[in-house]
Amino acid sequence: MMSNEILFSPFTVNGLTLPNRFVMAPMTRAMAQDGIPAAKQAEYYRRRAAGGVGLILTEGTVIDRPASRNDPGIPFFHGSAALAGWENVAQAVHAAGGRIGPQLWHTGSTRSMGTNWVPESPVESPSGLVGPNDPRGIAMTEENIADTVAAFASAAASARKLGFDLVELHGAHGYLIDQFFWQGTNLRHDAFGGATIAERSRFAASAIRAVRQAVGPAFPIALRVSQWKQQDYAARNACSPDEMTAWLLPLVEAGVDILHCSQRRFWEPEFPELDGEQGLNFAGWAKKLTGAATISVGSVGLSDDFFSAFGGQGSHATTLQGNLAARIEQGEFDLIAIGRVLISDADWVNKVRDERTQELAGFKATDLATLD
Ligand SMILES: Cc1cc2nc3c(=O)[nH]c(=O)nc-3n(C[C@H](O)[C@H](O)[C@H](O)COP(=O)(O)O)c2cc1C
Repeated sequence: MMSNEILFSPFTVNGLTLPNRFVMAPMTRAMAQDGIPAAKQAEYYRRRAAGGVGLILTEGTVIDRPASRNDPGIPFFHGSAALAGWENVAQAVHAAGGRIGPQLWHTGSTRSMGTNWVPESPVESPSGLVGPNDPRGIAMTEENIADTVAAFASAAASARKLGFDLVELHGAHGYLIDQFFWQGTNLRHDAFGGATIAERSRFAASAIRAVRQAVGPAFPIALRVSQWKQQDYAARNACSPDEMTAWLLPLVEAGVDILHCSQRRFWEPEFPELDGEQGLNFAGWAKKLTGAATISVGSVGLSDDFFSAFGGQGSHATTLQGNLAARIEQGEFDLIAIGRVLISDADWVNKVRDERTQELAGFKATDLATLD
């Protein structure tokens, strides 16, 4: 068996050194009363830092736009009370020796998976659609777009000021930024739309450029991207390496240091028709085509992928399948995010490090009900 040594070796990106390769995946918990992270959120993240994870990406936290969230338990990343709450979170994580970045989010026109709540202001998206031929809310004006770009930049500037180690923009899973990428939801004819993925990437590039300007050159920016959308698991933004380059390279040129490539099972090849069933995964192709550092993710240490979690299903613990260490050793990707295992077990990374494999218990869906 391959040694796990590489998983516990440091990695440096744009001046930030992480002690190991494990990243806590961003996971919405929707438990922020009045949108303000409180002591229980600080303690939740502190416990994961103490449990050995190299980098924490917070749950999605929303920018300052009227309808940027689709659930009242999602925390704000604007306003003095929410920012003070986040400062406490960052301090708690740092005191436990961890590193942390907020995942900056705008949910676009998506519906909440957990509630029927709707924001008071109309939901907004590139073309007033939540999916192909599925109208919801309003199409954003150019003024709305400029204000949204400015709101991402202002949130990123706050993150840096509060002492966070990096920021991540949520550009995946069918939310606002991905609604610009996706041809099914972006029918615009202006500078932010078009027939090609390169054209539909321009909104994200504007947001990244504004964020880069706001945080300066020496502060890591991550962007989470996915092919799949919660509206359509089979949808794809890029069907070939050329399209993937057209999609992602301008974003790296605009200032992204780390592409966080979301897929359900990290060992699955992105273009098996080109390099076979053992071929590069999404993060592998993204790294090869853009040169950026990449984070992979998907079912590490678990028997089932995470879509089942929302239907109340748990997942059994497995060994670290999919040749994780070998893939990082070979440079396919740099970091690996873990989601559900960390909801159920804050000490998962330290248990893997210490080879306490019999103590790895998997994921229990009932653990989503509490923030421990
Ligand atoms: C309860 C829950 C909430 C999630 N919330 C977010 C989120 O806010 N932002 C995001 O990018 N992904 C979110 N995801 C996806 C995870 O970040 C991750 O990609 C997914 O769980 C796969 O990793 P896993 O198989 O290790 O759990 C969420 C997943 C779960 C289970």
